[in-house]
Amino acid sequence: MNLAYAKHMFVLGPTVEYGPGVHKNIGAVAKGLGSTKALIVTDPNLVKSGVVEKVAAPLRAEGLQVEVFEKVVSEPTDLFVHEGAEFLKKTGADLVIGLGGGSAMDCAKCIAVMAENEGHLTQYEGAAAEFPNDKKAALITLPTTSGSGAEIAGWSVITDSARSYKMSFGSPYLEPGYVFVDPELTLELPRKPTVYSGMDALSQAIEGMLSVRRTPISVALGLYAVKLLSENLPKVYSHGWDLEARSNMSIGSFLAGIVINTSGCISVHALAETMGGLYHQPHGLLVGLCLPHVLEFLLPGDHELLAQVATALGANTAGLSTFEAAKLAIVRVNQILDECDFPFLTQVGLKADDIPQIAQLAMGNVCTSDNPCTMTEADYVAILNSALADNRPLN
Ligand SMILES: [Fe+2]
Repeated sequence: MNLAYAKHMFVLGPTVEYGPGVHKNIGAVAKGLGSTKALIVTDPNLVKSGVVEKVAAPLRAEGLQVEVFEKVVSEPTDLFVHEGAEFLKKTGADLVIGLGGGSAMDCAKCIAVMAENEGHLTQYEGAAAEFPNDKKAALITLPTTSGSGAEIAGWSVITDSARSYKMSFGSPYLEPGYVFVDPELTLELPRKPTVYSGMDALSQAIEGMLSVRRTPISVALGLYAVKLLSENLPKVYSHGWDLEARSNMSIGSFLAGIVINTSGCISVHALAETMGGLYHQPHGLLVGLCLPHVLEFLLPGDHELLAQVATALGANTAGLSTFEAAKLAIVRVNQILDECDFPFLTQVGLKADDIPQIAQLAMGNVCTSDNPCTMTEADYVAILNSALADNRPLN
């Protein structure tokens, strides 16, 4: 695809404040929105660690009442969304705040929308989810991981408890109105969630650049995101209190979020989301482990763009053909997985017997249609067989 001649639409919506300490401005912003009562949607660990209070204090200082829905767990289901929507209606809050990783922010978006819409969340599944009632409480997001990019996206991923299947929802009504990207809120994130969410962000930047919906803007943002994330992921893995590295991760994952909000993800996420529903492993772990196998599969068709990705990943591509340079993107991804002590897919659940089912379910994932080449079940089987035979050296 020649991006110079293609027609594009690029969506830039919310107001964004970025930098260490910006979360302290949330009270003034909420008051400016006319809010009197806020509901913070978060997970119990952030209540215990004091991060929720860091956000609640400036809200109270501006005279707002604050309620907390702290039941979000990793890989949240439709049941949490409906419980949260009922809680929101009961409290009468006029502002919903998604505070946490992608799970909390995705839940917050769906809670705000489902409090105003009839029926069950599952009936709205899809890339163009149509919610009849577009009125909802104001929505603010604050990420406490550097990963999902959910803070900026008009997307949510929620597991259907009945099918153990991750549903994707895409709608402008899911997009927050205001975002605080504050690296201080990520400082206490433990090592494993740090690298799993960071690898999710890195993959999202790469996937958005390879997607059939890529634009010159998403490629530009994606390349810088890949550079920031790949340079700093090993640093925050070994030194979690390095604020400069955490800041670079925050901006990198935010940029990756902008990239996928317009360009979407591809078959890496289709596979990882499918396996997440089956194996209940962290999303970023599965994404990271799928990434090199999908890149290997795409190498023959996308080597020019992958060569640029390899350079952004820090590979020395001087003097190489684009194909040889592109191969280094896969080498670099595997190096980063090793540096951050990622296991193999077989160690987190992948079994030969499951491959036909995973391939079939991945075909139905919304990310499959954005893959740069048309995917078949046989293609997914080939990628999964490559993962099954993985011999990436471990540290
Ligand atoms: Fe993701």
